[in-house]
Formats: sequence, structure tokens, C-alpha cells
Amino acid sequence: MSLLLNRNQFGNAANNGKTLPRNEAEQLFNDWVLNLRLQLHMKQVAALMRSWAKEKEGLDEEGQWRWEMAGLLHDADWDQWPEQHCKKIIEELENRNVDPEILHAIASHGPLHFGVEPETPMDKMLYAFDELSGLIHAYSLMRPGGYEGMDVKGVKKRLKEKSFAANVSREDINDACNRAGIALDELIAFIIPRQAIVI
Ligand SMILES: [Fe+2]
Ligand SMILES: [Fe+2]
Repeated sequence: MSLLLNRNQFGNAANNGKTLPRNEAEQLFNDWVLNLRLQLHMKQVAALMRSWAKEKEGLDEEGQWRWEMAGLLHDADWDQWPEQHCKKIIEELENRNVDPEILHAIASHGPLHFGVEPETPMDKMLYAFDELSGLIHAYSLMRPGGYEGMDVKGVKKRLKEKSFAANVSREDINDACNRAGIALDELIAFIIPRQAIVI
């Protein structure tokens, strides 16, 4: 099964800067994503994207929502239409006149799968957060205290254990850090406290 998108242009430049209102994005999220674990993953990535946009990119509320929206909807079609991931959500958002920047970020969140390279900071951070966020959450579930007291060292240990969260691609994580120009330690340290508060 190939998920290659076979294109590099998404959306329409006339829609630059356009987002969905939060309630519309949440409606789409709730209608399409029925799996609660996947919902949590998407909410976690959304929160990380928002935090990064605010703290590292210094974006205003509108910019923060653009980043958050990319995270919130990046896997929206995975639950019910995995064979159409992420083609279906992109087409849906194109029909709703969403900002091409958001569409490109969603389209490039798995370059090996979708064949679209992460280019912008939004693209690169969505790619970087996606897999690592999942591994850190899996780690929290096996710790008695959850996120409490979790540190970078512990996460790196789990990363080295190939059998732990084996479906999380270590290759993608390293590739994403390189592309984003961020040290793995720094990324892990950013994720832990910000993800811990998303329930
Ligand atoms: Fe995905
Ligand atoms: Fe994801």
C-alpha cells in the first residue's frame, strides 16, 4: 500500500493565512477521529506545535493557532481511512480553503511515506514532534508516576531499546532532528513538561 501523494503543491495561495475557526476544526476532529488514543496523540502534538510557535517562533495568537491546527488535524484520516492517510484530510482542508502552509505541513509529516519533504519550520517541527511524542507518551504509560519525574536520560534509554514502542521509527526521529537543526536532548526536554499537561 503506497501513501505517496505524488504532488508537491497543496492548497491555493489565495488562502494564505486562512484557518478554520477552532470550533469547526474540533468538529472535524470529533467526527473523523473516534479512537481515543489517536485523539490524545493528535491533541498532544497540537499542544507541542502551539507551544513551539509561541515560545520559539514568537508568533501571535493567529500564528499559534495555525501551528496548533496542523498538529490537531495531521492524522485526522488515519482512524477511519488509513489507506488514504494523509491524502483525505488534505483534500478536505483544500475544499475548506485552508492555508497552504498548514496543508504542506500535514503533507510532509512523514516524508518516507508521503514523499513530500519538510521545508518550513512548521513542516519540520510537526515531523519532529510526531514520532517522539508517541514514544514519550508510551514511556509515561509504563512509569508508575506517569510523566512525574521523567527525564531526558530515561527517554533516551527507551529510544535505544529497539523493542520498546517498536512501531516508533528511530530513523524518523533522528532524521527529523537533523532537518530541524535541533539536538535530540533539547527536543525531548521541550516535549516532556508540555505534553504532560495534555489529557
Ligand atoms: Fe500520520
Ligand atoms: Fe501522528
